[in-house]
Amino acid sequence: MSTAPKTHVHATLPPGAAPDWTIPQDWAAYSAQDHATWDLLFARQKAQLPGRACAAFLRGIDILALSRPGIPDFDELSERLMAATGWRVVAVPGLVPDDVFFDHLANRRFVSGTFIRRPDQLDYLQEPDVFHDVFGHVPLLADPVYADYMQAYGEGGLRSLRFGALHKLARLYWYTVEFGLVREAGGLRLFGAGIVSSHGESVFALDDPSPNRIAFDLERVMRTNYRIDDYQQSYFVIESFDALLRATAEADFAPVYARLEALSDLAPETLLPEDRLLTRGTQAYARGRAA
Ligand code: PHE
Ligand code: FE
Repeated sequence: MSTAPKTHVHATLPPGAAPDWTIPQDWAAYSAQDHATWDLLFARQKAQLPGRACAAFLRGIDILALSRPGIPDFDELSERLMAATGWRVVAVPGLVPDDVFFDHLANRRFVSGTFIRRPDQLDYLQEPDVFHDVFGHVPLLADPVYADYMQAYGEGGLRSLRFGALHKLARLYWYTVEFGLVREAGGLRLFGAGIVSSHGESVFALDDPSPNRIAFDLERVMRTNYRIDDYQQSYFVIESFDALLRATAEADFAPVYARLEALSDLAPETLLPEDRLLTRGTQAYARGRAA
């Protein structure tokens, strides 16, 4: 899935779903139009992302070139992903409860929705569809270090529930898995699924003078609110997936959560004196939208 886990889902198991909330993808039920939408979105992003997406993402895209064009068949995709890093992709009926979501990640199962956006929603859609879930997330799951990060995140998610700290941990997901940037030799590159699956934001996040670009700091990120309805006002930049894994999987979050209790939350655009800034944003885009 897609966006950061939601903190309040009280839905019950939908009819037809397994106890772990998975459902069959029912690939045969997609229409020609559905497949054409995927092909169009795929071609457009594949052409836009060289020089923008990080090297691991560009390497991973090839895993999506399956035996047939159109929306990937999750079973075929899973076979490939399994061979690369031991991950698989399973279908779910939209949002699942947090503990179910984390349990899947902790067991190297990436949960994906099955619906695809309508042709009039090619450029923007707030809720994740199968293009976001699969194109945005799966290529990096073929990278061994990133694959370990996502599994560790699932384990950490289950742990965060015991600390009542899910909303803090969700921000880490948001600012890395969904909207993260990484510094590479050639310059800043994209790795967040919410960016690479968006035609507009994959330009905005790198090129626009509006947003802040701030060096990743775990506690800083976990204090920072985010917006779910528009481009981000701040992006956080990691040094590498190895560095991200060290700062998270190899750290004990119990004292981190405790320290964060005493600190106020920050608005998305706020800058702190101790921030290591790569770009100080003008916030012109956000101001224009608010006017
Ligand atoms: N190490 C974290 C903890 O102690 C868990 C975690 C790992 C969180 C990886 C995010 C990513 O809770
Ligand atoms: Fe996502």
